[in-house]
Amino acid sequence: MGASNLISEDPGARATIVSICSKVAYLVKPLRSFFQSDMSLGASKAVVQVLCRPVTQTGYSEYLVNSSDLTLHSTFQVKCVKKKPPRHRHSIRCSSMLLSQLRRIHQLRPMGVSLVNYMNYSGSWLQTCKCQQSESASGITAGDGNGAWFVNNIETSNSVNNLANAKSIIEFQDVQQLKQEKVLTSKIANGTIPDSFSIEEEAWDLLRESIVHYCGSPIGTIAAKDPTSSNVLNYDQVFIRDFIPSGIAFLLKGEHDIVRNFILYTLQLQSWEKTMDCHSPGQGLMPASFKVRTVPLDGDDSATEEVLDPDFGEAAIGRVAPVDSGLWWIILLRAYGKCSGDLSVQERIDVQTGIKMILRLCLADGFDMFPTLLVTDGSCMIDRRMGIHGHPLEIQALFYSALLCAREMLTPEDGSADLIRALNNRLVALSFHIREYYWIDMKKLNEIYRYKTEEYSYDAVNKFNIYPDQISPWLVEWMPNKGGYLIGNLQPAHMDFRFFSLGNLWSVVNSLATMEQSHAILDLIEAKWSDLVAEMPFKICYPALEGQEWQIITGSDPKNTPWSYHNAGSWPTLLWQLTVACIKMNRPHIAAKAVEIAERRISRDKWPEYYDTKRSRFIGKQSRLFQTWSIAGYLVAKLLLTDPSKANILITEEDSELVNALITANPRGKRGRKNLKQTYIV
Ligand code: GLC
Repeated sequence: MGASNLISEDPGARATIVSICSKVAYLVKPLRSFFQSDMSLGASKAVVQVLCRPVTQTGYSEYLVNSSDLTLHSTFQVKCVKKKPPRHRHSIRCSSMLLSQLRRIHQLRPMGVSLVNYMNYSGSWLQTCKCQQSESASGITAGDGNGAWFVNNIETSNSVNNLANAKSIIEFQDVQQLKQEKVLTSKIANGTIPDSFSIEEEAWDLLRESIVHYCGSPIGTIAAKDPTSSNVLNYDQVFIRDFIPSGIAFLLKGEHDIVRNFILYTLQLQSWEKTMDCHSPGQGLMPASFKVRTVPLDGDDSATEEVLDPDFGEAAIGRVAPVDSGLWWIILLRAYGKCSGDLSVQERIDVQTGIKMILRLCLADGFDMFPTLLVTDGSCMIDRRMGIHGHPLEIQALFYSALLCAREMLTPEDGSADLIRALNNRLVALSFHIREYYWIDMKKLNEIYRYKTEEYSYDAVNKFNIYPDQISPWLVEWMPNKGGYLIGNLQPAHMDFRFFSLGNLWSVVNSLATMEQSHAILDLIEAKWSDLVAEMPFKICYPALEGQEWQIITGSDPKNTPWSYHNAGSWPTLLWQLTVACIKMNRPHIAAKAVEIAERRISRDKWPEYYDTKRSRFIGKQSRLFQTWSIAGYLVAKLLLTDPSKANILITEEDSELVNALITANPRGKRGRKNLKQTYIV
């Protein structure tokens, strides 16, 4: 394949070019800051776009700056020719990007120029292009994943992968379950409930219909394709977090390209200027979502171009920064490599830089006393005010995964030694902090109940000065004798005792929770099945905020009324995280039971985003139908239960080095100052 074709036809190559250019901009950040300080605030309106324009000629790329408007242009040939060939432009120097950023106007445009210009730009570009040339999807497929389901599947997976133990099978086949099975089988036979096979087929059709293309290549899936909803808000966008189950489903199906494109295109968006009222968040931030827009071509009414338009929270409801996006991006990147066997993506210079930018943003020094990430309310799946500002479990669990996955993927080089050291130290401290201070079960609850307060000293037992009165009456009743969980948040004098599902499930998946704690979390899920699953898996959190608490904490949010939406609504998408956690702990029957419950309604109800009421009986008040991550979450659960060994692309096992470091660093028992000052170095 000629180099020209390579660049024009390979979205990855196009992505590389844009990405490297934006990374150069990142490297000159100090200079940029200097100039920015001189910048008129009025000129700081951000226009963040990737422009893709058709060209009929050479198919090479270049960067150029039109010095008159100080706008950065990156140009490519693409396949999305709409009308006539555009004007030629000429290559520019790298420093022009700096100028462009002064005006915060970024435009990257595809058009044809000579390869020579492009090669002159930088050695690393060439390297990346070569890398692209050698890239190919490995063709490893995961089998079609469809097939007869339920008891048979579990048995097959047991025999093949030896994952579920005999005890699990016996538990699974308890009398009540068998009774339910009988009812279910007869309902399927008389057509009241569609069978599993046809639900899966429908789900695949819907998932494929949700695919979004950019310049002819699939790059993501739309959040919801609800024909009944007149107000789309931003549900017509590709959300980073929503795409994760879609991406995993495609990977498991052997369709790797869409994931590769998604990874590379979102990487382009990472380092761009984004502002809200003249303020820019950190450089490594990934957008919450993006949209592909078709816009008229500048100065040419007869042609159009496609534009990638990201939202970093500056347009989102409540202007929330999506802290989880970059963390999920790293997790997906690792899963892509593990599933496809194609490690060339994670080895690319631009991708390595992208990983480091996310890490630097997360590991930057701040005012924190804790190793947990300090974030605002709504910085994750729960992206509205729900009282989870501070150190919410979901973010900590994703942060921990991202650190582990990044460590696995970072290529060693002299320049990153400090970063890796900081990463290792953080892993140890974070895991100690969560395991020790976020964990509650009956025993710990009783300890807290008897806490002394106002302890000033290094030897304090009640380090965060928790007043025992905070233990709510619901919790005293709710905590099972067998089981426990990680609390939602920990701050000075504040423990948020709500059970947050994603954070707990993901702490099992990534071994942030110990083996013992992980089993206890699943024990609690089983013991509290009628609260957490009821008629549709899975409650996003438990219990709901009600009355005055709801008024104060949510700001009287009508979308988050008790037992709705983020306030203890039930989200079918969580099925996939539940499944991975159950497979990791060799207890897949728990997930299988949840999948079976979902199958009774989910397709008939048109794949809602969430369900309302304490027992999840109603489709959510403002719930979208045909919500993509409900569809994809279901498919991932099914695919993984069919072949549990595939869950390895998401699981991270406990690292023995980390355990040793934890043992030596554990300040419990010796609470002297010296011990607390100890640094954690793995
Ligand atoms: C809602 C959810 C968020 C999701 C988005 C798109 O805002 O709270 O988690 O990413 O919808 O589905």
